[in-house]
Amino acid sequence: MSKKIYLDYAATTPVDKEVLQEMLPYFSQNFGNAMSIHSFGQTALQAMDEARKNVADFFGCSPAEIIFTSGATESNNLSVKGVLKSYCAQKNRDFIKPHIITSLFEHHCVLDSFRAVEREGLAEVTYIRPDRNGLIKISDIEKALRANTILLSIMYVNNEIGTVQPIEKIGKLVKKINAAREENSFPLVFHTDATQAINYFDCNVSKLGVDLLSMSAHKIYGPKGVGALYIRKGTPIKKIQEGGDQEYKMRAGTHNVTGIVGLGKAIELVKKNKEKDSKKITALRDYLIEKVLKEVPKAKLNGSKIKRSPNNANFSFDSVEGEGLLLSLDINQIACSTGSACSSGALSPSHVLLSIGLRPEEAHGSLRLTIGKFTTKAEINMVVKKLKEITERLRKISGTVLKEYYSKK
Ligand SMILES: Cc1ncc(COP(=O)(O)O)c(C=O)c1O
Repeated sequence: MSKKIYLDYAATTPVDKEVLQEMLPYFSQNFGNAMSIHSFGQTALQAMDEARKNVADFFGCSPAEIIFTSGATESNNLSVKGVLKSYCAQKNRDFIKPHIITSLFEHHCVLDSFRAVEREGLAEVTYIRPDRNGLIKISDIEKALRANTILLSIMYVNNEIGTVQPIEKIGKLVKKINAAREENSFPLVFHTDATQAINYFDCNVSKLGVDLLSMSAHKIYGPKGVGALYIRKGTPIKKIQEGGDQEYKMRAGTHNVTGIVGLGKAIELVKKNKEKDSKKITALRDYLIEKVLKEVPKAKLNGSKIKRSPNNANFSFDSVEGEGLLLSLDINQIACSTGSACSSGALSPSHVLLSIGLRPEEAHGSLRLTIGKFTTKAEINMVVKKLKEITERLRKISGTVLKEYYSKK
């Protein structure tokens, strides 16, 4: 096999050719700093305004409600820490320690932001466990809410198992809670990490009822190192980084103009092609899931089959070690990802898979295959063929290793 197969679109996507074309003039030709008064600066500012308008159009909000960041990690950190900072900065109030809520299977940049503020003693945190299908129950959120809950952060689409959360329903609940709160009291702020949702789902912020929404360009065929945060007008949030007055004084630092131009073009293309791409990718995903479950022995799909992102298939393979599987696939020119992450030299099972009740060995034997707009049916056929061969071989090896191990005991 000569051509490489990429099935890791949830990790990152290639920059679309049209996006690249749009970006190119802003490297060396229109290279101005968007904060400069002269014409170089004004050209950059104009391009950025255009991009901001595209992003705002996509989310159905005003351009003044969009700020550009370095990616979803920053947008998420700013959301969690910025809301808390705003609460702590309130004057004329007897300080009551705030309560904040998130889920156990958020991306680490959300989860660890919550853990950090909890460790620092700034807030009490409730971590909601998703169910076995990888879905958050509204009733669990209702149970967790307190009079002093000021922030709720639930991701739109999970990055590992692709399950889709009921953001619109949660938004309605938040609205009800806020309507019952005393006037001038700190509201319950609703944040969603929509990084994996942009390509396929409705992200109209009014419809969703969110106050804050994070996204990243490199998941939507845009460049790495740039993202955005939607901040509903009036949301209590403070900047967490000191410096210049960029981004309505919410995010200091020279603008990544080239990246922002790329983000603006990428989101315009998502809007234009969403329906067509979703349809094609969903069909390929269903074909992949069906074929793997039928042809690869002892394969199991992780996460809901129905409430699932069009591009995601996540499997556990009994008696197979995920890292071994991943490396063997890589040798065969197939790129995907596993549910184990290397931390401090040891393999730790995915917190997402553990949160939905998988045993550590099941989580270790997992594989995430994520499809994109350039994936073909022939590639899926090749991947399933290789998966069959490799899992069979790895099972034989692990069987032999175990036999040898026990014979020596
Ligand atoms: C759900 C989710 N949130 C946040 C991030 C982080 O995004 P970025 O790479 O833009 O910092 C990712 C990327 O892996 C993600 O999938």
